[in-house]
Amino acid sequence: MSEVRLFDAHAHINEAEYSPEEREELARAIEASDVAYVVDQGYDLASSRQAVADAAKYDWCYCVVGMHPHDTKTMTEEVYEEIRGLYHEHKVCGIGEIGLDFHYDLSERDIQRYWFRRQIRLANELKAPIVIHSREAEAETMEILKEEGAFSKERQSWFPTRKGPDGEELPDSRVLIHCFSGSAETARQYVKLGATISICGPVTFKNARKLVEVVEQIPIEFLTIETDAPYLAPVPKRGKPNMSPYVEYVARRVAVIKEMSYEDVCRITCENGKRFYNIG
Ligand code: NI
Repeated sequence: MSEVRLFDAHAHINEAEYSPEEREELARAIEASDVAYVVDQGYDLASSRQAVADAAKYDWCYCVVGMHPHDTKTMTEEVYEEIRGLYHEHKVCGIGEIGLDFHYDLSERDIQRYWFRRQIRLANELKAPIVIHSREAEAETMEILKEEGAFSKERQSWFPTRKGPDGEELPDSRVLIHCFSGSAETARQYVKLGATISICGPVTFKNARKLVEVVEQIPIEFLTIETDAPYLAPVPKRGKPNMSPYVEYVARRVAVIKEMSYEDVCRITCENGKRFYNIG
């Protein structure tokens, strides 16, 4: 048996476009791979329900529930209450993916902001890990997270400390910046605030200069790896539908950039993912 265990910190087994047969096929591919854990990410009410069902069905599957900024136009008080209820289901380990997306603007910005704030408050009320989606809204995402207490001392007091690269005990805010696309400077600021940076497929792209700098500069203790499947397939699968087994290519690229062994990258990012989502 292989000793490598990969942790895909963010994927969509729940993707609405999958037929039940395709979802089963995907599950079999995951079970045949070195992937040990996948965290299925809700993006609206239906996908949050599907994520809960996936987690109930598959041993390796855990999930988070929430409303993606694209879909905040479908949010109502009733849906918000349903999401709160779903959080108490088995193997639900966070609120996400939530945030701001000013690239596509699929929901009005004020609606995005309003429900981003409400869902951070919900996560605080539930003492839950938070998974962030941020696109072309870097400064405002961080500002709102700060304003809503996502990095507060009180929030940090709910979670055990985490070890830094020199073995020092540091506060953990349990905020994951999914598919990080910002600068190394922003990543450093986030880590100082107790956040975790999640690295996805684009790190393997030729033009990944900025993301390579992030991986170089942020200690492995503060990184997770992910696919965001079925989106953003890494090289050499770029352009194809992504799936969790391809997180291997992200791990291999991180290992090259950090001059670490592939096995160490797998082991440490797996530990980081399990700690972040309170698994095991
Ligand atoms: Ni996603």
